[in-house]
Amino acid sequence: MTPPTHFKLNTGALIPAVGLGTWKSEPGAVAKAVAYALKDGYRHIDAALIYGNESEVGQGIRDSGVPREEIFITSKLWNTDHPNVKEGLQKTLEALDTDYLDLYLIHWPVRLVPNQTSALLPVNPDGTRSVDRSWDQNETWLQMEEIYRSGKSKAIGVANWSVPYLEELRKKWTVVPAVNQVELHPFLPQHELREFCDKLGILLEAYSPLGSTGAPIMSDPDIQQIAEKNGVSAATILISYHVNKGVVVLPKSVTEKRISSNKEVISLSKEDLAALDGLAARGKAKRLNTPLWGFDLGFADWYGPAKLQ
Ligand SMILES: NC(=O)c1ccc[n+]([C@@H]2O[C@H](COP(=O)([O-])OP(=O)(O)OC[C@H]3O[C@@H](n4cnc5c(N)ncnc54)[C@H](OP(=O)(O)O)[C@@H]3O)[C@@H](O)[C@H]2O)c1
Repeated sequence: MTPPTHFKLNTGALIPAVGLGTWKSEPGAVAKAVAYALKDGYRHIDAALIYGNESEVGQGIRDSGVPREEIFITSKLWNTDHPNVKEGLQKTLEALDTDYLDLYLIHWPVRLVPNQTSALLPVNPDGTRSVDRSWDQNETWLQMEEIYRSGKSKAIGVANWSVPYLEELRKKWTVVPAVNQVELHPFLPQHELREFCDKLGILLEAYSPLGSTGAPIMSDPDIQQIAEKNGVSAATILISYHVNKGVVVLPKSVTEKRISSNKEVISLSKEDLAALDGLAARGKAKRLNTPLWGFDLGFADWYGPAKLQ
C-alpha cells in the first residue's frame, strides 16, 4: 500500500505528512534550504520563534515562488510569551511575513518569566531557569483558542505535552489541540502518549526523527539492517516509520541532497514496524532532547513513571 502523503487534522484541514524542520538551521543557510525544499515539492515548514531564524524562513518562502496558500506553516509560542499569546504570535507573523499560520503550537508547557538576564532564556540569580511554576497552562490554552477563533491560525496545538499535562488541559479546553509535537523515534516510541492522543483525535508530530544534530540514530545497527533489507537509507526508514504509523514527521536538513531524499517515504512491512516499535523495550530507550527546565514534565521515560510533581 502506498503511504499517505497527508493526514487530516481534527479541524478537517489536511497536513502534509512530511515537513521540513528548521531548528539549528543557521540564518545564512535556512532561507536557501526552505526555498529549495518548496521548489522540490515540500509543502510543510516547521518553524518557531526560539529558533531565531523566522525572518530567513519567511525569505525562503518568498524566494521559492510557491503561493502562500499552498504551504502549511507551523510556528510555536515561546515560553516567555505565555501571558501574551497574541503578541507572541504577532512577532512570528511579522518575521515570517504572513497574515496567518496553518498551525500554532505552545512550544513547552513551561512559562519563563522575562528578566534582564536574557529576553528568551532568562535565569534566576542562582543560574536556574526563571520558570513560573504557579502559571496555569489553561490560561495559555484559552488564549490559543482565541487565536484559533480569530483565524490568525487555522489550527492550534501543543508541543512537549505528556499524558498528565494533557489531562490537566482537558479539564478546561473547548478546542481540542489538533497536534502534539514531541520527540519521537524508535528509541523513544512513546506508546502510551500515542494511544492517549489517538483516542482524543490529537495528531502526533515527530520531532528529532533522526536523533537531532548529526542524525545519530541513523548509525544504529538494527536500523541499518532494516534499511539494507529494504534497499533504502536509514533516514528513509526513520522517516517512513512515522508516516506508516499515521504520524507527521519533521526531518531537518540544510543539505539539498538530504532535503530531497528525506521526502521519500516507503511502505514498511508489519514485521519491520514491530521491530522498530520494540527497539526501546529491548534496551535502546533514549531521549535525546532533555531541556533543563528543572522539573518533571510528566513523560513516562523522563524522570521515572508518568506523574505530575
Ligand atoms: N517542538 C520542539 O520542542 C522541537 C524540538 C526539537 C525539534 N523540533 C522540530 O523538529 C525538527 C527536526 O528535529 P531536529 O532538528 O532535532 O533533528 P533531526 O531532523 O532528527 O536531525 C537533523 C540532523 O540530521 C542531519 N540529517 C538530515 N537528513 C539527513 C540525511 N538524510 N542523512 C544524514 N543526515 C541527515 C541534519 O544535517 P544537515 O542539516 O547538516 O543536513 C541534522 O544534523 C526541528 O528542526 C524542529 O523543526 C521541535
